[in-house]
Amino acid sequence: MSDAPLLSVGDLVVEFGTGRDAVRAVDGIDLDVYPGETVGIVGESGSGKTVAMLAVLGLLPRSARIVRGTAMLDGQDLLRLGRRALRRIRGSRISTVFQDPLTSLHPSYRVLDQVAEAIRAHHPELSAAEADERALDVLDLVGVPEPRRRARQYPHQWSGGMRQRAVIAAAIANQPALLIADEPTTALDVTVQAQILDVLRSARELTGAACVLITHDLGVVAELAERVVVMYAGRVRETGTTEQIFHAPRDPYTTELLAALPRLDGWPS
Ligand SMILES: Nc1ncnc2c1ncn2[C@@H]1O[C@H](COP(=O)(O)OP(=O)(O)OP(=O)(O)O)[C@@H](O)[C@H]1O
Ligand SMILES: [Mg+2]
Repeated sequence: MSDAPLLSVGDLVVEFGTGRDAVRAVDGIDLDVYPGETVGIVGESGSGKTVAMLAVLGLLPRSARIVRGTAMLDGQDLLRLGRRALRRIRGSRISTVFQDPLTSLHPSYRVLDQVAEAIRAHHPELSAAEADERALDVLDLVGVPEPRRRARQYPHQWSGGMRQRAVIAAAIANQPALLIADEPTTALDVTVQAQILDVLRSARELTGAACVLITHDLGVVAELAERVVVMYAGRVRETGTTEQIFHAPRDPYTTELLAALPRLDGWPS
Protein backbone atom coordinates (compact mmCIF):
# COMPACT_ATOMS: atom_id res chain seq x y z
CA MET A 1 0.00 0.00 0.00
CA SER A 2 1.50 3.36 -0.96
CA ASP A 3 1.14 6.52 1.14
CA ALA A 4 -1.07 8.57 -1.14
CA PRO A 5 -4.62 7.44 -1.77
CA LEU A 6 -5.68 6.88 -5.35
CA LEU A 7 -9.22 8.00 -4.57
CA SER A 8 -10.01 10.17 -1.61
CA VAL A 9 -13.64 10.95 -0.84
CA GLY A 10 -14.19 13.65 1.77
CA ASP A 11 -17.38 14.66 3.57
CA LEU A 12 -19.63 13.57 0.72
CA VAL A 13 -23.28 14.49 1.16
CA VAL A 14 -25.94 13.51 -1.37
CA GLU A 15 -29.64 14.27 -1.15
CA PHE A 16 -32.70 13.24 -3.08
CA GLY A 17 -35.51 15.78 -3.41
CA THR A 18 -35.47 19.29 -2.01
CA GLY A 19 -36.55 21.32 0.98
CA ARG A 20 -38.49 19.52 3.66
CA ASP A 21 -38.84 16.42 1.50
CA ALA A 22 -35.09 16.05 1.04
CA VAL A 23 -33.70 12.63 1.89
CA ARG A 24 -30.04 12.40 2.79
CA ALA A 25 -28.87 9.23 1.09
CA VAL A 26 -25.21 9.90 1.86
CA ASP A 27 -24.52 11.92 4.96
CA GLY A 28 -20.89 12.95 5.08
CA ILE A 29 -18.76 9.97 4.22
CA ASP A 30 -14.97 9.84 4.04
CA LEU A 31 -13.32 7.04 2.11
CA ASP A 32 -9.76 6.51 0.92
CA VAL A 33 -8.77 3.87 -1.58
CA TYR A 34 -5.06 3.20 -1.98
CA PRO A 35 -3.46 2.03 -5.22
CA GLY A 36 -3.94 -1.69 -5.78
CA GLU A 37 -5.99 -2.40 -2.68
CA THR A 38 -9.50 -3.80 -2.51
CA VAL A 39 -11.92 -2.07 -0.17
CA GLY A 40 -15.19 -3.82 0.60
CA ILE A 41 -18.21 -1.68 1.38
CA VAL A 42 -20.90 -3.42 3.40
CA GLY A 43 -24.07 -2.15 4.98
CA GLU A 44 -27.75 -2.87 4.95
CA SER A 45 -29.98 -2.07 2.01
CA GLY A 46 -30.50 1.68 1.65
CA SER A 47 -27.38 2.65 3.59
CA GLY A 48 -26.06 4.68 0.67
CA LYS A 49 -23.39 2.42 -0.79
CA THR A 50 -24.52 2.68 -4.39
CA VAL A 51 -25.45 6.34 -4.27
CA ALA A 52 -22.01 7.23 -2.86
CA MET A 53 -20.26 5.47 -5.72
CA LEU A 54 -22.64 6.85 -8.36
CA ALA A 55 -21.83 10.34 -7.05
CA VAL A 56 -18.11 9.70 -7.47
CA LEU A 57 -18.72 8.42 -11.00
CA GLY A 58 -20.94 11.32 -12.01
CA LEU A 59 -23.80 8.91 -12.63
CA LEU A 60 -26.39 10.07 -10.10
CA PRO A 61 -29.99 10.24 -11.28
CA ARG A 62 -31.33 13.73 -11.94
CA SER A 63 -33.34 13.74 -8.75
CA ALA A 64 -30.16 13.54 -6.68
CA ARG A 65 -28.00 16.47 -5.66
CA ILE A 66 -24.47 16.58 -4.31
CA VAL A 67 -24.72 18.94 -1.36
CA ARG A 68 -21.03 19.01 -0.58
CA GLY A 69 -17.85 16.97 -0.56
CA THR A 70 -14.83 16.12 -2.63
CA ALA A 71 -13.67 13.05 -4.52
CA MET A 72 -10.02 13.45 -5.45
CA LEU A 73 -8.49 11.26 -8.13
CA ASP A 74 -5.21 12.12 -9.88
CA GLY A 75 -5.23 15.55 -8.26
CA GLN A 76 -8.67 16.42 -9.63
CA ASP A 77 -11.96 16.66 -7.80
CA LEU A 78 -14.31 14.36 -9.71
CA LEU A 79 -17.33 16.12 -8.20
CA ARG A 80 -16.34 19.32 -9.93
CA LEU A 81 -15.52 17.95 -13.35
CA GLY A 82 -17.78 18.49 -16.33
CA ARG A 83 -19.65 15.65 -17.98
CA ARG A 84 -17.19 15.28 -20.82
CA ALA A 85 -14.17 15.11 -18.55
CA LEU A 86 -15.92 12.54 -16.38
CA ARG A 87 -16.84 10.45 -19.36
CA ARG A 88 -13.17 10.41 -20.33
CA ILE A 89 -12.24 9.11 -16.87
CA ARG A 90 -15.01 6.50 -16.76
CA GLY A 91 -13.93 3.48 -18.71
CA SER A 92 -10.27 4.44 -18.58
CA ARG A 93 -9.01 5.45 -15.10
CA ILE A 94 -12.13 4.17 -13.34
CA SER A 95 -14.39 1.46 -14.61
CA THR A 96 -17.44 -0.25 -13.25
CA VAL A 97 -19.10 -3.61 -12.93
CA PHE A 98 -22.72 -3.53 -11.79
CA GLN A 99 -25.07 -6.18 -10.52
CA ASP A 100 -26.98 -6.95 -13.66
CA PRO A 101 -24.82 -7.49 -16.72
CA LEU A 102 -27.86 -7.04 -18.96
CA THR A 103 -28.19 -3.40 -18.04
CA SER A 104 -24.51 -2.83 -18.86
CA LEU A 105 -24.73 -4.53 -22.25
CA HIS A 106 -26.78 -3.22 -25.13
CA PRO A 107 -29.16 -5.95 -26.36
CA SER A 108 -28.85 -5.13 -30.05
CA TYR A 109 -25.09 -5.05 -30.48
CA ARG A 110 -22.81 -8.04 -30.64
CA VAL A 111 -20.67 -8.61 -27.56
CA LEU A 112 -17.45 -8.17 -29.52
CA ASP A 113 -18.56 -4.79 -30.83
CA GLN A 114 -19.41 -3.60 -27.32
CA VAL A 115 -16.09 -4.58 -25.79
CA ALA A 116 -14.23 -3.18 -28.81
CA GLU A 117 -16.22 0.04 -28.53
CA ALA A 118 -15.25 0.36 -24.86
CA ILE A 119 -11.63 0.18 -26.00
CA ARG A 120 -11.98 2.52 -28.95
CA ALA A 121 -13.81 5.14 -26.94
CA HIS A 122 -10.54 5.75 -25.12
CA HIS A 123 -8.14 4.69 -27.88
CA PRO A 124 -9.33 6.38 -31.04
CA GLU A 125 -5.91 5.71 -32.58
CA LEU A 126 -6.75 2.01 -32.88
CA SER A 127 -8.33 0.71 -36.06
CA ALA A 128 -11.57 -1.26 -35.78
CA ALA A 129 -9.64 -4.46 -36.50
CA GLU A 130 -7.05 -3.70 -33.81
CA ALA A 131 -9.77 -2.92 -31.27
CA ASP A 132 -11.49 -6.20 -32.17
CA GLU A 133 -8.28 -8.13 -31.65
CA ARG A 134 -7.69 -6.48 -28.29
CA ALA A 135 -11.30 -7.16 -27.29
CA LEU A 136 -10.89 -10.84 -28.20
CA ASP A 137 -7.72 -11.01 -26.10
CA VAL A 138 -9.49 -9.58 -23.07
CA LEU A 139 -12.52 -11.84 -23.52
CA ASP A 140 -10.11 -14.75 -23.60
CA LEU A 141 -8.43 -13.47 -20.42
CA VAL A 142 -11.72 -13.41 -18.52
CA GLY A 143 -12.43 -16.98 -19.57
CA VAL A 144 -14.90 -16.69 -22.42
CA PRO A 145 -14.51 -19.96 -24.32
CA GLU A 146 -14.01 -19.73 -28.08
CA PRO A 147 -14.10 -15.94 -27.97
CA ARG A 148 -13.68 -15.58 -31.72
CA ARG A 149 -16.92 -17.42 -32.37
CA ARG A 150 -18.89 -16.49 -29.25
CA ALA A 151 -18.12 -12.77 -29.35
CA ARG A 152 -20.01 -12.45 -32.61
CA GLN A 153 -23.19 -13.33 -30.76
CA TYR A 154 -25.62 -10.98 -29.01
CA PRO A 155 -25.90 -10.69 -25.22
CA HIS A 156 -29.16 -12.68 -25.08
CA GLN A 157 -27.30 -15.64 -26.55
CA TRP A 158 -24.95 -15.63 -23.55
CA SER A 159 -25.57 -16.96 -20.07
CA GLY A 160 -25.63 -14.54 -17.13
CA GLY A 161 -22.16 -15.58 -16.02
CA MET A 162 -20.75 -15.18 -19.52
CA ARG A 163 -22.35 -11.75 -19.81
CA GLN A 164 -20.76 -10.69 -16.54
CA ARG A 165 -17.42 -11.87 -17.94
CA ALA A 166 -17.99 -9.62 -20.93
CA VAL A 167 -18.75 -6.68 -18.65
CA ILE A 168 -15.58 -7.36 -16.67
CA ALA A 169 -13.64 -7.62 -19.93
CA ALA A 170 -14.90 -4.20 -21.00
CA ALA A 171 -14.12 -2.84 -17.54
CA ILE A 172 -10.49 -3.93 -17.53
CA ALA A 173 -9.75 -3.48 -21.24
CA ASN A 174 -8.26 -0.03 -20.71
CA GLN A 175 -6.19 -0.91 -17.65
CA PRO A 176 -8.12 1.16 -15.11
CA ALA A 177 -6.50 2.27 -11.87
CA LEU A 178 -9.79 1.74 -10.03
CA LEU A 179 -12.55 -0.77 -10.53
CA ILE A 180 -15.87 -0.14 -8.82
CA ALA A 181 -17.94 -3.30 -8.54
CA ASP A 182 -21.45 -3.00 -7.08
CA GLU A 183 -22.90 -6.41 -6.18
CA PRO A 184 -21.10 -8.01 -9.12
CA THR A 185 -22.23 -11.53 -8.27
CA THR A 186 -25.66 -11.00 -6.70
CA ALA A 187 -27.76 -11.58 -9.83
CA LEU A 188 -25.97 -14.82 -10.68
CA ASP A 189 -26.47 -18.47 -9.77
CA VAL A 190 -24.47 -19.60 -6.77
CA THR A 191 -22.21 -21.84 -8.85
CA VAL A 192 -21.50 -19.01 -11.27
CA GLN A 193 -20.83 -16.54 -8.44
CA ALA A 194 -17.66 -18.36 -7.46
CA GLN A 195 -16.43 -18.29 -11.06
CA ILE A 196 -17.08 -14.58 -11.38
CA LEU A 197 -15.22 -13.98 -8.14
CA ASP A 198 -12.25 -15.77 -9.64
CA VAL A 199 -12.52 -13.64 -12.74
CA LEU A 200 -12.62 -10.49 -10.61
CA ARG A 201 -9.62 -11.66 -8.67
CA SER A 202 -7.59 -12.32 -11.79
CA ALA A 203 -8.82 -9.08 -13.39
CA ARG A 204 -7.47 -7.26 -10.38
CA GLU A 205 -4.16 -9.09 -10.56
CA LEU A 206 -3.78 -8.54 -14.29
CA THR A 207 -4.44 -4.83 -14.13
CA GLY A 208 -3.11 -4.07 -10.65
CA ALA A 209 -6.24 -1.98 -10.24
CA ALA A 210 -7.57 -0.92 -6.87
CA CYS A 211 -11.10 -2.09 -6.29
CA VAL A 212 -14.14 -0.84 -4.43
CA LEU A 213 -16.35 -3.84 -3.91
CA ILE A 214 -19.90 -3.30 -2.72
CA THR A 215 -21.53 -6.49 -1.56
CA HIS A 216 -23.93 -8.08 0.89
CA ASP A 217 -21.89 -11.22 0.83
CA LEU A 218 -19.35 -11.44 3.60
CA GLY A 219 -17.72 -14.41 1.96
CA VAL A 220 -16.92 -12.20 -1.01
CA VAL A 221 -15.48 -9.54 1.28
CA ALA A 222 -13.42 -12.08 3.17
CA GLU A 223 -12.05 -13.49 -0.08
CA LEU A 224 -11.22 -10.28 -1.88
CA ALA A 225 -11.01 -7.24 0.38
CA GLU A 226 -8.07 -6.08 2.43
CA ARG A 227 -10.09 -3.37 4.13
CA VAL A 228 -13.76 -3.02 4.93
CA VAL A 229 -15.98 0.03 5.29
CA VAL A 230 -19.22 -0.48 7.18
CA MET A 231 -21.99 1.94 6.24
CA TYR A 232 -25.19 2.70 8.07
CA ALA A 233 -27.78 5.36 7.21
CA GLY A 234 -25.53 7.22 4.81
CA ARG A 235 -22.55 7.26 7.14
CA VAL A 236 -19.42 5.25 7.72
CA ARG A 237 -19.85 3.41 11.01
CA GLU A 238 -16.53 1.64 11.05
CA THR A 239 -13.46 1.13 8.86
CA GLY A 240 -10.76 -1.43 9.40
CA THR A 241 -8.78 -4.27 7.96
CA THR A 242 -10.91 -7.23 6.95
CA GLU A 243 -9.31 -9.23 9.73
CA GLN A 244 -10.17 -6.62 12.34
CA ILE A 245 -13.74 -6.04 11.15
CA PHE A 246 -14.51 -9.76 11.16
CA HIS A 247 -12.73 -10.76 14.34
CA ALA A 248 -12.69 -7.67 16.51
CA PRO A 249 -15.38 -5.23 15.38
CA ARG A 250 -15.39 -2.08 17.49
CA ASP A 251 -18.87 -0.87 16.62
CA PRO A 252 -21.83 -2.88 17.94
CA TYR A 253 -23.60 -2.22 14.65
CA THR A 254 -20.84 -4.08 12.81
CA THR A 255 -21.35 -7.09 15.07
CA GLU A 256 -25.07 -6.98 14.37
CA LEU A 257 -24.53 -6.66 10.64
CA LEU A 258 -22.05 -9.52 10.54
CA ALA A 259 -24.60 -11.71 12.28
CA ALA A 260 -27.34 -10.74 9.82
CA LEU A 261 -25.53 -10.96 6.50
CA PRO A 262 -25.01 -14.20 4.63
CA ARG A 263 -21.62 -15.80 5.00
CA LEU A 264 -19.63 -18.62 3.57
CA ASP A 265 -19.88 -21.75 5.65
CA GLY A 266 -17.38 -21.69 8.43
CA TRP A 267 -16.33 -18.09 7.89
CA PRO A 268 -15.64 -16.12 9.96
CA SER A 269 -15.19 -18.22 13.03
N1 LIG B 1 -33.74 7.09 -7.31
C1 LIG B 1 -33.90 7.42 -6.02
N2 LIG B 1 -34.83 8.31 -5.64
C2 LIG B 1 -35.00 8.66 -4.35
N3 LIG B 1 -34.24 8.20 -3.35
C3 LIG B 1 -33.30 7.31 -3.66
C4 LIG B 1 -33.06 6.87 -5.00
N4 LIG B 1 -32.04 6.00 -4.97
C5 LIG B 1 -31.66 5.90 -3.70
N5 LIG B 1 -32.40 6.68 -2.90
C6 LIG B 1 -32.23 6.87 -1.46
O1 LIG B 1 -30.87 6.72 -1.16
C7 LIG B 1 -30.70 5.79 -0.10
C8 LIG B 1 -29.44 4.98 -0.37
O2 LIG B 1 -29.66 4.18 -1.52
P1 LIG B 1 -28.55 3.24 -2.11
O3 LIG B 1 -29.08 2.72 -3.39
O4 LIG B 1 -27.25 3.93 -2.15
O5 LIG B 1 -28.48 2.07 -1.02
P2 LIG B 1 -27.56 0.81 -1.00
O6 LIG B 1 -26.77 0.86 0.24
O7 LIG B 1 -26.82 0.71 -2.29
O8 LIG B 1 -28.64 -0.35 -0.88
P3 LIG B 1 -28.66 -1.81 -1.55
O9 LIG B 1 -27.79 -2.64 -0.67
O10 LIG B 1 -30.09 -2.21 -1.47
O11 LIG B 1 -28.17 -1.70 -2.95
C9 LIG B 1 -31.96 4.96 -0.08
O12 LIG B 1 -32.30 4.60 1.22
C10 LIG B 1 -33.00 5.90 -0.62
O13 LIG B 1 -33.55 6.65 0.45
MG1 LIG C 1 -26.85 -0.63 -3.85
